[in-house]
Amino acid sequence: MPIAEATVSVMDRGFLFGDGVYEVIPVYSQRAFRLPEHLQRLQNSLDAIRLINPKTNLEWSQLIAEMIALNKGDDQSVYLQITRGADSKRNHAFPEHVFPTVFMMSEPLVTPSAALRESGVAAVTAMDNRWLRCDIKSTSLLANCLLRQQAVDAGCVETILLREGQLSEGAASNIFVVKNGVLLAPQKNNFVLPGITYDVVLELAEQHGLTVEVRTISEEELRTADEVWMTSSTKEVLAITLLDGQPVGAEPYRGRPGPVGAQMYTWYQNFKTEVMRSDA
Ligand code: PDD
Repeated sequence: MPIAEATVSVMDRGFLFGDGVYEVIPVYSQRAFRLPEHLQRLQNSLDAIRLINPKTNLEWSQLIAEMIALNKGDDQSVYLQITRGADSKRNHAFPEHVFPTVFMMSEPLVTPSAALRESGVAAVTAMDNRWLRCDIKSTSLLANCLLRQQAVDAGCVETILLREGQLSEGAASNIFVVKNGVLLAPQKNNFVLPGITYDVVLELAEQHGLTVEVRTISEEELRTADEVWMTSSTKEVLAITLLDGQPVGAEPYRGRPGPVGAQMYTWYQNFKTEVMRSDA
């Protein structure tokens, strides 16, 4: 149905409490990318908030395929969310007899332009003041919204979050660092969302023999990095070339996207093409 005709109860716990989880699944050439992985992460999020998955993976796959076909565009971004449903009263504790609310929509997938990829983007840093379960893809995103807005207010694209002097992730992306040809990635734990793109990047790095260290990354390492990238389903692999007003990296790439990121972007595009071809 047209988005303007879709309605939800004002008593929905997603609306009242942000009591729900979500996924954003990129679609290339009408095919959902890494669907099993997205559905597994959805299941993990549902388990973490003690909500029973209202659909089987087969049902999700069919619904998503239907959504893609109805929306026609080749490249789409499918959003889905599940909340704990609507009760007759507002009560923090879980209601007993409610059904989860399921909502899905598709928007055209807009990935960064060639110009943006060539220049890289600017980011700011901020203290990561979110809760301790950032591994859950929860619709409770107030902290993320406030943090992302700090970037926008500064004319930047992303806010990079530091928790007790260590890099966690971006307000809506994962962050990678390159130093002396080594790719550094913060480990997956309760302080970061386990990004699907993050996994693809690490797989590609391994496949192509790039040296990778998955470990704690200090603020100092972030600030003295040769390259900093953000990754997400919609941003793919995007260089951050200005951090808190300072150019990232050293000559000849100071303030410009570096060679490792450019290589990773190419690997990522080739991988997408291969996967889409083999799924066809
Ligand atoms: N955000 N970390 C956070 C906090 C995120 O919100 C996202 C994605 C990621 C990257 O995950 P993935 O590679 O699976 O997209 C990391 C989505 C795109 C969003 O909220 O719109």
